Amino acid sequence: MEILGQTREELLNGLIEFIRIPSISTLPENKADVIRAAEFVAGELKQAGMRDVHLITAEGRHPLVYGEWLGAPGKPTLLLYGHYDVQPPDPLDEWETPPFEPSIRNDNIYARGACDDKGQTYILIRAVAGLMKTEGRLPVNVRFLIEGEEEVGGEHIEEYVASKPANLKADAAIICDTEMFAPELPTLCVGLRGIVYGEIVVEGSKIDLHSGVYGGAAPNPIQAIAEILCALKDRDGHILIPHYYDDVQPPSPKEREAWARLPFDEQEYLEKEMFAKELVGEPEIGLFERVWARPTIEVHGIRGGFVGEGAKTVIPARALAKVSSRLVANQDPVKATGMLKAAVAGAAPRGVTAEFRVIHAAAPSLVDPENPFIRSAAAALTEVFGKETVFIRSGGSIPIVGVFHQSLGIPSVLMGFGLPDDRLHSPNEKFHLPNFFRGIEAVAHYLRKVGR
Ligand code: BES
Ligand code: MN
Ligand code: MN
Repeated sequence: MEILGQTREELLNGLIEFIRIPSISTLPENKADVIRAAEFVAGELKQAGMRDVHLITAEGRHPLVYGEWLGAPGKPTLLLYGHYDVQPPDPLDEWETPPFEPSIRNDNIYARGACDDKGQTYILIRAVAGLMKTEGRLPVNVRFLIEGEEEVGGEHIEEYVASKPANLKADAAIICDTEMFAPELPTLCVGLRGIVYGEIVVEGSKIDLHSGVYGGAAPNPIQAIAEILCALKDRDGHILIPHYYDDVQPPSPKEREAWARLPFDEQEYLEKEMFAKELVGEPEIGLFERVWARPTIEVHGIRGGFVGEGAKTVIPARALAKVSSRLVANQDPVKATGMLKAAVAGAAPRGVTAEFRVIHAAAPSLVDPENPFIRSAAAALTEVFGKETVFIRSGGSIPIVGVFHQSLGIPSVLMGFGLPDDRLHSPNEKFHLPNFFRGIEAVAHYLRKVGR
């Protein structure tokens, strides 16, 4: 059965072509692939009948792709956002099939970016293409803005949106880059966490030292990193930085009640989704609140000293840790950054210097579920999936959502079609093909509804 005049085969072939391009935004060696992916998106937008399709480029930045169709005067304008960049695929040997050779097994397409966010970006493109094809016009005005730096902090789009808000006049943004709470359960995400990502840089002596000769007298930067990390967060997951929680807005009683009604099996989440031994974090706070509505601090990697095979007795001169803090409404990333910097410097033990250097930061976001664009999205999803739409938040971050709110004054409708086991950023990332097809129908249905 065709979807808006497009065969499933044709939709799938387009998706496969898109996913094959290894547009890994963080790796300099993939720069040409990133550009190819941008050009692919531009080509698709042209084919869909969009006007003024062009790449927006800037020195040292990955291109943004723009395209519009403004032929519905008097109707709302929607800003359709997605990202064509992906995370690195490593560790490569854990993939069952190569990350950039899409493979279809049991109704799932396996590849890096299949879900995050090429599959979902392509939903937006093909929903619009299908409406144009079958009706020759759209029920609303649309502007596409697709970026290639989301996975590395999204600086280009942020600068662009903040500096040229008049180019992007819209009433709401639609983003397909989040997850459904459970298979078959239509879901809108109404809150995302923000983030401050940086490096703790620690320096001890000028040179690496013999750990026998100098151990007992020399400062050790790796030990210092361990001590600093323990000063930031205790064993129960409480952040120890003074006033860090001051601006945290707790979820309303109504939102908590809705969360309590979500179909959820904690044991299954632990064993089948997280593959972990035990859930941790602030013991007095419920799980959803911990991951959706509380700030956290995580360490992502530590570099320094000797990590080769065998043994080497050395006290390293320096060490570094990659650390991020997720933020929630109403925390301010600038304020949080200041607190993190002060806390890291203040926690440095004797004999070392420690500094927190920011790599990127983004504000948290929270939309009102009563907003008319959210309400009609919920209704559209309910109609297409035949089930009541649930409202959730997500612990992940999509930096542009806060910028759309701040610079354009518009809410974002986070209509995601990923599944909890899609393994975003992990080996064997997948996208459930029925969600791909239904996503196209749902977005088209939503556009029609907004145009009514
Ligand atoms: N699409 C994800 C964010 C996401 C995942 C939201 C699942 C909701 C549910 C996005 O591509 C992502 O990975 N964001 C990064 C942002 C960071 C690099 C600024 C993240 O959250 O780590
Ligand atoms: Mn994404
Ligand atoms: Mn991602």
